[in-house]
Amino acid sequence: MDPASLLLMAGFLHLAFANGIDQLSWFYRMQPLAIMDPDSTGGDCPAECDCPPTFPIAMYCDNRGMKQMPYIPSRMKYIYLQHNLITTVSDEAFKNGTNLVWVMLHENQIAEIGKRAFANLVNLDRLYLSGNNLTEVPSNLPHSLRDLRLNHNKIDKVSPSAFEGLENLTTLLLNDNSIQDIGSTLKGLKSLTLLDVSRNQLKKVPDGLPAMLHQLYLGSNSIDAIPGNFFNHFTNLQYVRFSHNALTDKGIPPNTFNVSGLVELDLSFNKLERIPTVSTSLEHLYLQANQIKEFSLGSFCSVVDVMNFSKLKVLRLEGNEITRRDVPSDSAMCLRFASDIAL
Ligand SMILES: *[C@@H]1O[C@H](CO)[C@@H](O)[C@H](O)[C@H]1NC(C)=O
Ligand SMILES: *[C@@H]1O[C@H](CO)[C@@H](O)[C@H](O)[C@H]1NC(C)=O
Ligand SMILES: *[C@@H]1O[C@H](CO)[C@@H](O)[C@H](O)[C@H]1NC(C)=O
Ligand SMILES: *[C@@H]1O[C@H](CO)[C@@H](O)[C@H](O)[C@H]1NC(C)=O
Ligand SMILES: *[C@@H]1O[C@H](CO)[C@@H](O)[C@H](O)[C@H]1NC(C)=O
Repeated sequence: MDPASLLLMAGFLHLAFANGIDQLSWFYRMQPLAIMDPDSTGGDCPAECDCPPTFPIAMYCDNRGMKQMPYIPSRMKYIYLQHNLITTVSDEAFKNGTNLVWVMLHENQIAEIGKRAFANLVNLDRLYLSGNNLTEVPSNLPHSLRDLRLNHNKIDKVSPSAFEGLENLTTLLLNDNSIQDIGSTLKGLKSLTLLDVSRNQLKKVPDGLPAMLHQLYLGSNSIDAIPGNFFNHFTNLQYVRFSHNALTDKGIPPNTFNVSGLVELDLSFNKLERIPTVSTSLEHLYLQANQIKEFSLGSFCSVVDVMNFSKLKVLRLEGNEITRRDVPSDSAMCLRFASDIAL
């Protein structure tokens, strides 16, 4: 017998055996009435998954050592496939998926996704693909997406059209990949509020970041400069992290951070020698592990006007070249809320 026939025979035996021991689910699958009546059975369900009768639009297939995508009954809205060993998502995998709202595929070994795999998921809201082996952003992502998680993959290139049409996307996680350049691909994401591109290989701040951003995380890259007036075009930005980069004083134009609205600014583990000027509205400033040599009160308050005190609560300066003796005695007036100054 040739290997192909052997494989075929093994397949039949496997099927027969599976049907024998799994008569209950086989029975349900053979009963059209049962399929029509989700209240009593939960409806058609792949043998390796659970579809609770009380919540017949959800399919739980997580943590089962699955190596392949199961078939997906068309009534499903939520599918949980995380923590398996799936390597491939074919163009046909989601053929029945027009009702899908959440697809959880994180922590698998997906290295390949068909170019049209997600194309007909017109109602998809969340797509979690974190912790896989992807080397690029999947093509033809549904325009309905609001939450896309691609962190902890091996993505090293982002095509110019990767995020095109995702007008409702609010969360995009790309952290822990190998992206060197993201171009202007994020420009059209007009609803984006959270962007995480930490722990990649960016050499500069991405161009055309969406104005609606509320949280911007760019830590652990190789960024050495911030463009002039960078923060002026954001209307809601509150949390900014640039820790573990290569920022120098020269790379930060004056007043870059002196913009109202910022609440938290993380510039720790860079190469700054001065405390940059920040807005009086800032509450948390992380500057530890830089090369700061002086405590310049003018960075926080305009010294001439004691009414302009800083709202800083947390200021971290340890691991720099200053000590408590370098803090001027008149700083109490300016930093009156800073109960937590670490030196
Ligand atoms: C689509 O649904 C039908 C009926 O439930 C099923 O037989 C088929 O395998 C499904 N296809 C996929 C790709 O999930
Ligand atoms: C996915 O990556 C892991 C860890 O790097 C590796 O062990 C595994 O073989 C990869 N799987 C595929 C399908 O590429
Ligand atoms: C974006 O959201 C709005 C409001 O919920 C909706 O009307 C619109 O169709 C969505 N756009 C896409 C491309 O799904
Ligand atoms: C920071 O900005 C405010 C308001 O735009 C301005 O009045 C102030 O002088 C600036 N601070 C410094 C140190 O330039
Ligand atoms: C000081 O504070 C006042 C009132 O809050 C404000 O009008 C003024 O622009 C501030 N001046 C500076 C130099 O920040």
